[in-house]
This record gives sequence, structure tokens and C-alpha cells, in this order.
Amino acid sequence: MRKHLLSIDDVSADDAATLFATAAEMHDVQHREVKKLPALRGRTVINLFFEDSTRTRSSFEIAGKWLSADTINITGKGSSASKGESLRDTVLTICAMGVDALVMRHAASGAAHQVSQWVDAAVVNAGDGTHEHPSQALLDAYTLQRRIGPLEGRHVAIVGDLTHSRVFRSNVKLLLKLGARVTAVAPPTLMPSGVTPWSQADGFALSWDLDEVLPTADAVMMLRVQKERMSGGFFPTPREYTVGYGLTRDRLGVLGPDVPICHPGPMNRGLEIAADAADAAQSVVLDQVSAGVAVRMAILYHLLAGEENA
Ligand code: NCD
Repeated sequence: MRKHLLSIDDVSADDAATLFATAAEMHDVQHREVKKLPALRGRTVINLFFEDSTRTRSSFEIAGKWLSADTINITGKGSSASKGESLRDTVLTICAMGVDALVMRHAASGAAHQVSQWVDAAVVNAGDGTHEHPSQALLDAYTLQRRIGPLEGRHVAIVGDLTHSRVFRSNVKLLLKLGARVTAVAPPTLMPSGVTPWSQADGFALSWDLDEVLPTADAVMMLRVQKERMSGGFFPTPREYTVGYGLTRDRLGVLGPDVPICHPGPMNRGLEIAADAADAAQSVVLDQVSAGVAVRMAILYHLLAGEENA
């Protein structure tokens, strides 16, 4: 793996396989009474989050702690960024304390890449605007692989507010690398304009018709309607969105009982996903959360200790 994890472009199919193998070992740690490995003892990991987060931030924190790293959380609101300090000054200040890895989330696309050019620490992109969220895509693929086996040739439908989704962009790249077929499903107003060149890629298709896609899906990934990133009306009413693109109780009946339902969270229950689907036996939403810790342990391990300890 490269020094940083900024994008799925930094991860080859072989890297993903290595990360998944390590994550599987880390997953076992989660079920132990004493959840501690010494691998990153003496290393310092800073979580720098300028956007809200429940899962990503806490799972990176837990991942670092279970590997014995010292982990510290800094959020935009409580930091000097709210006093007008520039991003460059903030990260240089933090890194001057002696930091080995900086896990960061920022509203600007490209922020993690920019920061990686300013600091010596390994930078992990935990979401940059509407661009990428590589650790989420890795944990999604890991979760799916554990449920349905190798993803080569399998058909994954990714459905929802794709325009505003960094999870979508990272997932398409990774799933295609792993040999899966991906159909992106969204209303025309929430289909990113830049997605057209991807439709030339082998295995990638676009659709506006969820009911046509669902019967052929081996896995379904529902993505959140990101109201906080919307400046205008992208659909007439929430009800119309649900009728066209929600995973409703009726649509659940169309899916095979073994087709996993993913959602990176947070979910808008009743909008993009009905409670019946979110809580169905085939829902892997909480498996994704649990895999998130193991996969992030694997990421930190490979970035900070992997080479030396191999
Ligand atoms: C996603 C994110 O922040 O990009 N959430 C997450 O990391 N689990 C998706 C979202 O906010 O909808």
C-alpha cells in the first residue's frame, strides 16, 4: 500500500485482498474479552473531523486503541479552526506535536490530498466533501465478501443520492477493481453529471428504474439522501422520492432472501429505506459497522506498521 489512503486509487485489488485478510484476523479480536494488540504501541493517531460523524470517527478511534496507539479526537467546532485558523496552520500545528497518522474528514473535496502534501504523517481520508471515502468502500466490500463470497461477476446495485455521495464514488472504483458489476440507480437530478465516462467502463451501468434493477441484484447498497448538501429541490416531495427510489416493504419482497442490504448510515428511515428493510434478516447494516472497526484496524496497521512487521 502507499503511504496515504486518500482514494481507492491508492488501493490495488491485491492491496484490498491483503487488507481483508488482516481485517479478518482483527475481527477476531473484537470478540475477545481483552481487545488489545500491541502492534501500534507508541504511535499517535489523530482523528481530525471537520464534519459530523458517529461511526467513522468512533471506529477509527476504537481501531487505534485496540492496536495500542494513542488516539486523540479533534473536531472543527472545538478547535482553533472556529477562530479562523487556516486548515494548513491547523494540521501543521497538530503534526508538530509528533503525529504518525492523521485521519481526517472535511467538507471540501480534495482536502485530505492537499493536507498529505503539507505533512509527514500518513493521511487517511475519512470523507472529503462529495469526493471519496475509501475506508467505507473497503469495509463495504469486506462485509459483502463475507456474506456472498468473492465479488467477481456479482451484481451490486447502488441506489440513492449519488450526486452528493463520496461513498458511491469510492464504492464504484473498488467494486469494479474487484471484478463486480455495478448499476448506479438514482433519479436524474441525483445522478452525478460526471458519471457518464464511467458508463464506458466494463461492468458499470446507469439506471433510473429501481424496479428493473432489483430482481438481478446480488447485493443492494442504499445511500442516504444528503439534505445538508442540497441547495435546491432535487425531488418534488419526500413521498415521491420513496415511491421511485426507496427500498420499501414491497420492493423488499422482490429481493431474494439472501441478497444483502447495505447502508453506510446514518439512515433516513422511511425515506430511502423502510424500517422493514433496515431491520430485515438480510440487512447487513450493523455488520458494516462491526467490520468498520476491523477494516480500520487493518488500514492503520498496514500504513503504520505493515512493512516493518511483515
Ligand atoms: C457516510 C459519509 O459520511 O459519507 N457515512 C459514513 O461515513 N458512514 C454517508 C452519509 O453521510 O450518508
